[in-house]
Amino acid sequence: MTPHIESKKEEIAPIVLMPGDPLRAKYIAENFLENVTLVNHVRNMFAYTGTYKGKKVTVFPSGMGIPSMGIYSYELFKFYDVKKIIRIGTCGSFHEDIKCLDVVLAEKAYSKTYFDKLLDDGNDNLVEASADLNRMIMNSAKKNNIDLKIGEIITSDVFDLYCDDKEKYRSNYPKRDFIAVEMEAYALFYVARKLKKDAACLLTVVDSLFDNQNLTIEQREKSLNDMIKVALESLLD
Ligand code: HPA
Repeated sequence: MTPHIESKKEEIAPIVLMPGDPLRAKYIAENFLENVTLVNHVRNMFAYTGTYKGKKVTVFPSGMGIPSMGIYSYELFKFYDVKKIIRIGTCGSFHEDIKCLDVVLAEKAYSKTYFDKLLDDGNDNLVEASADLNRMIMNSAKKNNIDLKIGEIITSDVFDLYCDDKEKYRSNYPKRDFIAVEMEAYALFYVARKLKKDAACLLTVVDSLFDNQNLTIEQREKSLNDMIKVALESLLD
């Protein structure tokens, strides 16, 4: 047990899929896993352990933002001996070539947060995903005919659609080809690197300043299902 997780150690699998939303964890458990048990409900962060094609996996939500992801990833890696976490979330496009419903795989996450300084006196704006885990995810996407957009992403402390001035917002970041913006991956990658674990991040693009389409529920669900499938199939590698 930790301050935020009530599960027994043996109830958490060495591999964790991590959506932001607890209800998405429930959706994944109900629609993709077998032999499911609810292993956490502290703070309504519903987590489930089950099997996918015989492989044991836990689906544990991160909540939103660097602080929440920082807590859950740290506790799972450090106190539950979790070896691998794959974040499966949503993001905004940060590049005109990246469209709504694309599935993004993060190579690195960039942030201007103070998380690194506060956690271990670090000073590193850009952290990498696990190359091994990303390779497994790329193989899985290929096998399942799902196109991935691969590149560097931004982990923001502000939901960018709510900032006062979008041009000013973008000018806070270096001029690199970032492809997407979300709010958690940096913390996951930073904690994984610190604790010598593996982490990756798959994202479905749900909003874009470049592409004003209104997504239907079916379109969203299909793209999210594709992303979940890529993540789960990668665990069988
Ligand atoms: N910005 C940050 N996080 C997000 C977004 C976004 O536009 N969309 C989904 N998560």
